[in-house]
Amino acid sequence: MTKFTVISGSSSKDLAKKLAKRLGANLLKSQLRVFPDGESKITLEGKLQKNKIIVIQSTYPPVDENLIQTLSIISKAKEYGTEIIAVIPYMGYARQDREFLPGEVITMKVIANLFKSVGTSRIIVVDIHSMIGLKYFNIKSKNVTAIPDLVKYFSKLKLKNPLVVSPDQGGKERAKEFAKFLNTEYISLEKQRDRKTGKVEIKTTNFNEVIGRDLILVDDMISTGGSIIKATEFLKKQKCARVFVACTHALLRNDAEKKIKKAGVTKIISTNTIPGKTSLVDVSGTIAKAII
Ligand code: R5P
Repeated sequence: MTKFTVISGSSSKDLAKKLAKRLGANLLKSQLRVFPDGESKITLEGKLQKNKIIVIQSTYPPVDENLIQTLSIISKAKEYGTEIIAVIPYMGYARQDREFLPGEVITMKVIANLFKSVGTSRIIVVDIHSMIGLKYFNIKSKNVTAIPDLVKYFSKLKLKNPLVVSPDQGGKERAKEFAKFLNTEYISLEKQRDRKTGKVEIKTTNFNEVIGRDLILVDDMISTGGSIIKATEFLKKQKCARVFVACTHALLRNDAEKKIKKAGVTKIISTNTIPGKTSLVDVSGTIAKAII
């Protein structure tokens, strides 16, 4: 009998297959049917063994649907498993981890309680927006980073005097780590987001270091692309060479990819925490290491 069983939710099928292969685990698929009223019906395909069960499912859009499906699968797995490990490569709602404006609900806290209540023993996430989010989980939790995997991809590109750039101060440590692995330098811009409208502005005025250099804009996630677009427009005005984007989670909502390219980005490279055209970097090895 193998040590682990991997159950794949519908949003992370390919990653589940890769993870199961790396762990030498049984892979159990789940069958999903969404009724006309929007309810999800999930049926696990195959027989569950009494061992450690890994449920893997990213909660990208439709976020609420993927979340309820994840919780449902975990609750079923709990009937059999000796330990339930939830792997949530992209954790939706992670940006709602504090009360920015009075009255705001900290939804991340609600979700953390839900994971515990359905029987999760431990949770593994990849590049969660901020470590604050993980503090709400009263179970064993771990954040793993995809930065070394992303750097591996970038080190094969022929870049001209590369410089790593964070579009905001919040991502400074991420850019620093990326630069360390790539053996180059980094800078971080000053970004301001209107908490009511969501509009983004770059407050930095001048950056001579970027002139003539290929830049790698590093972020944890791209949603609407607003942050990356504003940063690219600013950096292009500073007369940089090419702009590449490295991010872990590419949600790319509302034509974001097209808009980002139009702003002057040469290429977006993301990971398979969210499958899509830009997800060229596999994080199954990094996740597997965190499990064993
Ligand atoms: C913000 O602090 C995050 O790290 C991302 O920069 C941001 O959430 C991306 O969202 P958008 O693409 O909509 O600007």
